[in-house]
This record gives sequence, C-alpha cells and structure tokens, in this order.
Amino acid sequence: MKMAVNESSVFIVTGASRGLGFNIAEKLLSAPISANVVAVARSQIGLAKLSKKFPGQVESVVGDISDYKTGSKAVKTAIETFGKINGIVFNAAVIHPISTIAETDINEFKKLFDINFFSILATLKDAIPYLRQSKGRVLLVSSEASYESHFYGWEAYGSSKACVNHLAATLAVEEPDITAVSVDPGVMDTSMQEEIRTQHGGSMRSDHYEYLAKIKEEGTIEPTNAPATVISNLVVHAPKELSGKYHAFNSPELAQYLN
Ligand SMILES: NC(=O)c1ccc[n+]([C@@H]2O[C@H](COP(=O)([O-])OP(=O)(O)OC[C@H]3O[C@@H](n4cnc5c(N)ncnc54)[C@H](OP(=O)(O)O)[C@@H]3O)[C@@H](O)[C@H]2O)c1
Repeated sequence: MKMAVNESSVFIVTGASRGLGFNIAEKLLSAPISANVVAVARSQIGLAKLSKKFPGQVESVVGDISDYKTGSKAVKTAIETFGKINGIVFNAAVIHPISTIAETDINEFKKLFDINFFSILATLKDAIPYLRQSKGRVLLVSSEASYESHFYGWEAYGSSKACVNHLAATLAVEEPDITAVSVDPGVMDTSMQEEIRTQHGGSMRSDHYEYLAKIKEEGTIEPTNAPATVISNLVVHAPKELSGKYHAFNSPELAQYLN
C-alpha cells in the first residue's frame, strides 16, 4: 500500500506528541506519503520533534483537545497554512478513570468523555465542510474495550470508544463524500499502558492487570509500528466500502494496509 499521494495532501493528527499518534504522523510525513500534517497535543516537546525531523511540513497546535477551541484552531491552521484537509486521525485519548460503576466519579468520567469523544464531535463540526470538498477521510482510533465487557472497571474508556465506533457509522450515512473508519490498534507499548501498569492495578481485575504486566515483562507487548502503518495508509487510501466500519488493525479486512 506504499503509494505516493499528491504532495500537498494535508492531515490533522491529534495526540501526535508521543505513542501511536507520533508514529502515525511520522508515517504521513515520510516518503512516499510526504504529506503536510497539523499535529495536535498539549506537550510541545513531542510536536517539536516532528517539526525538527520534517522541516516545513508540520504545523503544531499546542492545546488541550477537550477545550473545543483547540480543534477549531487545528482546522483553521490546516486551511490557512496548507489550503485544505484531506483527512483527520482522531487519536488523542486518555484511560483515566478506571473504576467500577459503583465507585465512579462522574466528573472524572465526563472529563474523559470531553477528551475521548466530545473533542472529536467539536472538531468534526468545523472540519466537515472541508472534508466534503476534498472527499476526505476520518480515522477514529478505537479499542477492543469498545465492545468487550470483560474489561472490569473500564466503563468510562470503553463506552467512549463505543461512541467513537458509532460516530464512524453515523458519519458514513450522513456524509456520503467522507469516508469514516474506526480502528482498534491492539495493545501497544506506550505511555497509556505504562499508566495502566503503574497507576491502575488496584482498580482492575487481577487477571487482566497481570496479563498486561506480563506481556511488558516478557517483551511481547507490540510496538506502535503495525497499527500506525495501517491507520496512516487508511487515512490516505481507505475505500468507501470501509466507511462506517470498525475493524481491528490486524483483521483480514485491513490486511492490505499493513505495509
Ligand atoms: N496503548 C494501547 O494499548 C492502546 C490500546 C487500544 C487503543 N489505544 C488507543 O490508541 C490511541 C493512542 O494511545 P497511546 O497508547 O499512543 O497513548 P499515549 O501514549 O498516552 O498518547 C496519547 C496521546 O494523546 C494526547 N492527549 C491526551 N490527552 C490529551 C488532551 N487532553 N488534549 C490533547 N492531547 C491529548 C497525548 O498528548 P499530550 O499528553 O502531550 O497532550 C498523546 O500524544 C488512543 O486513542 C488509545 O485509546 C491504545
């Protein structure tokens, strides 16, 4: 799937300062895609690394995505600097709070939803006119937790990702010119997993926690490379038939996007 695209293709990537989002941005900026990227996150350091590595191709928007002005600024920056938007990867998300429903803190739950879901809706509202024009693509980073109920204590995160899947489905029917796909990147060796191992052990079922700790200890936890390859290829090339669908990055339906 390594096809060159129009050199002026423009993508917004949220959560591009580290982990999966950083890797997706790198792949979009590198040859043969060689696109321009508006990279969004709170920490400037990770975004500055991208700008340094790909001079002239990156515009950074530093801000909290749960403040809807950040998404608006990303859309405005893409249009004012590069003139269009070919696709958006909605990758930024948090895992906190992990807690049973009986003990949940509703305000923390709402904060997670502001980051993992409402920020996407708000950014899309601004971006849809431009995505219609470009017949663009929206890639939503989801999770197996969006439908699996064995993720004890993960109601906030899991339900936000279920909303993300539903958003792809609704976008697909409401916006025939836009292709929207939701992708589970699998368990990856990132800060999010580190946070789970170091901060959330007491709030999860022990077998789930022990599994996540064991794959790190044994070195079998996957790096971000394969899901980042699939997601970057999809935001460039995803066909209409995939619109509205949710797939795991390593599912047979997405096999052709793995390299
Ligand atoms: N890691 C896994 O095992 C796993 C499994 C399934 C799905 N996922 C999904 O994969 C995606 C990437 O996760 P990851 O593992 O790469 O996590 P990560 O290493 O924690 O990175 C998360 C990214 O989101 C950004 N972010 C978080 N809160 C933000 C906010 N309020 N405003 C702006 N940016 C914010 C972070 O940047 P700043 O902190 O600089 O703002 C960072 O760039 C997420 O959607 C996650 O749900 C991960």
